[in-house]
Formats: sequence, C-alpha cells, structure tokens
Amino acid sequence: MAKEKVLVTSALPYANGNIHLGHLSGAYLPADIYVRYKRLNGDDILYISGSDEHGVPITISADKEKVTPKEIIDRYHNANKAAFEKFGMSFDVYSRTSLPIHHTTAQEFFKKYYDEGLLVEKKSMQFYDEKAKMFLPDRYVEGTCPRCGNEEARSDECERCGSLYDPSELKNPKSKISGETPVLKETSHWYFPLGKFQDRLVKYVEEMNKKFGWKDNVLQYCKGWFNDGLKDRAITRDLDWGIKVPLDEVQNKVLYVWFEAVLGYISATKELSKQRGEPELWKKYWQSNDTKYVAFIGKDNIVFHTIIFPAILMAWNDFSADKYTLPQNVPANEFLNFEGKKFSKSRGWGIDVDEFLELFPADTLRYTLAANLPESKDTDFYWKEFQGRTNGELADILGNLVNRTFTFAHKHFNGEVPRCGKLEKIDEEMLATINEYPKKISGLIERYKIKDAVFEMMNLARAGNKYFNDSEPWVSVKKNKEHCATTVNICLNAIYTLAEVFEPVIPFSSVKIFKMLNTRPTEWSECGSVELEAGHKLNEAEILFNKIEDKVIEELVNKIGSGSAEVPEKAEEITIDEFKKVKMKVAKIIAAENVKKSDKLLKLQIDLGNEKRQVIAGIAKSYKPEELIGKKVLVVANLKPAKLFGLESQGMILAVDSGEEGKVKIIEIDESINPGTLAK
Ligand code: MF3
Ligand code: ZN
Repeated sequence: MAKEKVLVTSALPYANGNIHLGHLSGAYLPADIYVRYKRLNGDDILYISGSDEHGVPITISADKEKVTPKEIIDRYHNANKAAFEKFGMSFDVYSRTSLPIHHTTAQEFFKKYYDEGLLVEKKSMQFYDEKAKMFLPDRYVEGTCPRCGNEEARSDECERCGSLYDPSELKNPKSKISGETPVLKETSHWYFPLGKFQDRLVKYVEEMNKKFGWKDNVLQYCKGWFNDGLKDRAITRDLDWGIKVPLDEVQNKVLYVWFEAVLGYISATKELSKQRGEPELWKKYWQSNDTKYVAFIGKDNIVFHTIIFPAILMAWNDFSADKYTLPQNVPANEFLNFEGKKFSKSRGWGIDVDEFLELFPADTLRYTLAANLPESKDTDFYWKEFQGRTNGELADILGNLVNRTFTFAHKHFNGEVPRCGKLEKIDEEMLATINEYPKKISGLIERYKIKDAVFEMMNLARAGNKYFNDSEPWVSVKKNKEHCATTVNICLNAIYTLAEVFEPVIPFSSVKIFKMLNTRPTEWSECGSVELEAGHKLNEAEILFNKIEDKVIEELVNKIGSGSAEVPEKAEEITIDEFKKVKMKVAKIIAAENVKKSDKLLKLQIDLGNEKRQVIAGIAKSYKPEELIGKKVLVVANLKPAKLFGLESQGMILAVDSGEEGKVKIIEIDESINPGTLAK
C-alpha cells in the first residue's frame, strides 16, 4: 500500500486529575495501537497529545484544594505524562496548553476572526455569584436540566441529554463557589457564528463518511446536532485563568477552553517542530492537502471534533492562503466502566493508571483493554477478566508457544533456527496462515476495528499452538529429525510474525521476543513472508508473562470501590457492650435554620420523645432547612455536648455519604416510629 502522511491526535486530557483506565480505552490506547501499526507500516506519522490546562474544570479543582491553578496543572501534567509513558504511549510530543506557543496560536485564530468581522459581540445574562463577586461560567453553576431533569446540569448545557438552553431556564441553580443561588447579570461575549457553517459541515461529514467510513455512533451524534440546528457559540468567558482575549480594551476575559483546546493539537505540533529543530515541520502535516488527519476521542468530545473544530478551521481557511487540514476521521469510542459502574474519583470507584502499573506490567493491561475496547458500546473492566486474559491468553497461548518453541530450539537444535525441510500439508497450511494474518490484521486496524484486530492477533498464536500440537515435535525429534526441524523452523517464523503483529498492543513484550529471536521487525508489508534463515542464532528465552494468582485478584475484587490499590484497613473490633454504650434514638426534626456565616451547618431543634434538644449538624450542603422539618432521624443521644460556631450541639444526627462529593443523606426512620425509640 502506498505510504501515507498521517497526523494522529488523542484528546488533550484536563490536567486536574489522574488518568484512569477509562481514559486509556477511550482515546489513548486505540490511537497508540493505530500509530504503532502505521509506523511499522512505514507511514510518515506524527502522534500528538498533551494536557488541557485551562477552563473551569481546572479552576474548580484549584478552588477545592485551595491551591493555585498553576499548582494543579503542574502536578497533573507531570503525573499524567509519566503514567502515559509507563503505559507505553508513543506520543511524538505530549505538550501542554499553558505554553506561550499555544497562547499565541489560539490568540492568532481569535484575532483573525475578529479582524475579518466574523465574530458577533452579544450581550447576555450570565450567572453571577454576588458573594464571590464573579461570573459563574460553565461548570461553576449546577442545577436541574429544564429538559430532562438531570440534577447535575451546567448553566447552559446538560451532559446527560445533550441539550443547550439559556441560563435563565436552568432550575434550581447553585453556585459551586458559595453554594448560594446566583443572580443573572449582564455581560458581553464574542460569539462564533456556528450556524453559518451548518451547510458546509453537513457536507463535510457526509463526504468524509462516504470516503472513509465514519463510525455509526459518531454519525448519529452529528445528525442530532444538525437536526437541532447549529447556533452561535460564545468563545469568550468571564474568568481570569486562561488565554487572554487579545483585544486591548478587554479585561478579565479569556478564550473559552473548548475553542482554544482543540487548537492545542496545532500548537503541540509546533512545539514538536521546535524540539526537532525544524520550526516549519508542523506545516507539512497541518497545512498540506495530502495529510490524513485522524482524531481519537471519547464520545463526550464528539461535537467538538466533528463540528466545532472543523468549523474553526474552515473559518480560518476562508480568510487565509494557508489552509488547514480537517479531520478525515474521528473514531470516537464509547465509555469503559469499572466492574459494572462508571469510574468515579469522588466515589473511589475505579483505578488510576499509575496505581495499576505498580501492581501489574503495562502489557497485561494494554492487552486486556485492547481486547475489550468500547468501540461500539460501553464495556467494562473486570478484575476477573483481566486475570483470565493474562493467564489464559497471554501466558497460556502466546507465552506458551514462545516458551515451548524456544525450549525445543535450544535443546535440540543448538539454539539456532533449524533448516526447513520438505513441507507436508500441515506445514504448508501453517505457512499460509502466517502469511495471511498480518494483512487481515492491518485491514482491521486501518478501519479502526482494533478490538477485532487484537482477536486475530491472538488467533494467530492459537494457530501456532495448534500446529505445534498437531505436528508433535516431541515424537518427530526421535523418529524424523528433519521434519522436527521443519516444525520448529515454522514455529519460530510464526513467533517472528507474532512479535511484529502484536507490537502495537504489547510493545514491551514484543521487544523481548525480538531480542530472543535476535532480530528486528521488518516493514509490515513483508511481515509473515520474510523468514528467519536457517542457522540464525537465537538468544536465551525469557519468561514473557507471569500468571496472576487467584488470591491477588480476590483481594482486588474485595476492595473494589475503595479506590486504592492498597489492602483496606480493617476497622478495630468492639464488643457488644461497648456498642451498647452508644444510645441511638429516633428524633423528629421540629425546626431548622441556617447557621450564620457557615455554609455547612444547620441549627436543628429535635424532639426526642420526652425532651427537646438543639443539634448543630453539618448537612447544609445537602439539605435546605425547610426540607428537614417533620423528618424522623437517628440521633446519638448520649454524645458529650459540644460548641460549634458558638452554638451548643446536644447530639449528632446519623448520615451516610451520598456518593456525591461533599453531600450526605440522613438516615431516615419510618413515620410510624415514635420519637425517643432506642435503636439496637
Ligand atoms: N480536556 C477535554 C476532556 O478531558 C478534552 C479536550 S480535547 C481538545 O474531555 F481537543 F479540546 F483538546
Ligand atoms: Zn438534560
């Protein structure tokens, strides 16, 4: 196949948290497999990614941890870069959007549109926190979606149902900063006229799909947006963290993170060009009409890569002689869940990449994830499946073939590739199989069917084992050494092919196998047809995969949800008498009010049957005072009184974590139970 010039990007993850397995399955591992294959194929390829370091996700994390945004991005950029490296990601550059080169690139785009009169300045009403004295863009406001009732909707966008609305429509808005109900205040922003590009975008998606076969999930998503009709989108925000709007008269406004982040792919390529000492190199990829640009992302990023980013580039191309390349394909994946539920940092559900790689080698994780990619539907990571794939496939199929073949070659053929003698039918068939698989596999990878490609890789190893078994070299070594030599020769050549076709998925093991074979990969097109010569010296065999014991997996399964790879702490045991010391009684809440100057505490009056008490409870973030009146709850009645904010608290209300960060649910007792009743 003719060599291609390929640009591959993976979504720039926000530098506000650790990369977990879900990220890997969505936008990183499939891209890395594609890229590694393309490199072996001899294509001219650049693989670009980096940290997304602006926007409200970053500032909210900084607010939460009471540190500067800079501290957050430095910490997570470095952590994620290291974790990706350990996982074997082969980026040509892992850049970051806080670099000056990115700021100037993004500003250049904005300025061009501004100068050409493309942008529309509009006044609108935006949420404003009067206590914090700031506007509350995007995720700074949470409320109930006016369309679907999702209680975690943003000011003007609901992630659950995908709808956009006016902030004034959001029900029950709450500021993430103060917890207060924000007011609407007028501000002005620049809008990108996305609607003007609708017809061209529809054509673009149609044409790309026709030529290159886009995935169904991606097409469906685009259709939805087109049917609703594209609207103007504000590309500025009232924030101080971000890329300054490059207009002298404007203060305190930055570029909207999604507008600039996608341009991060371009600026990252510029950075790479600088590193390589070829400052113009990026143009060869971004501004050339023979580049094939593939953008790997997770499904939550589809609109930004199939509609907004192409529109941004089309707009530039309208005004400039340097034309940018638009994505040719956007093979978005669905989500990976963890043991049946969504990954959730706050709920401690899931495992981060660096934690995982403390426990197991990268290749075992790469293989398990690759064999189960959420290409057309959500999939799950299960510890049991991980063990099964590692032991039953990597070790028992691939590892076993390599191990038994090398043992034979060293024991009976002096550690050399034995000569291939007269071929029998079984040998001819195996040679044909070896020859056919690399083509089958590359065909699948070229169509982004990575999961199927991985299945075929293991099938080749399966075929190798079957051939070994059926050929019975342990019999022929005594009766027909020449045919035994043929068997071992062909097995070694199968391994040679396997080392290459598996390289994109398990690169660390592939290196080991090539070392054992004492050779290097060929170009992919020759893989399966070039053979190791008779007499070629082999190196000593190494163990490729260690099996994972049941008890290791059981321990991990048991602490699912603890969010940590360490063995969970056992709570100290107490006797029944010790427990009986705690007097838990049913109480009815008869009055409730906010505690002044505290956004966490509520002052409650409770009825304990034969007495009334005051309790100060840390549940203001979870309940409004009026919601609580009349509820029956459990109270620790013999707790020593304590003073909170100068108020006496005579007891403690029992509650459990709700799973939502910072929020609890009180333990409610049935209506029919009388206040004062003892819990036992
Ligand atoms: N930071 C975004 C996320 O984690 C992805 C940005 S992709 C980019 O969902 F193209 F905009 F950079
Ligand atoms: Zn909704």
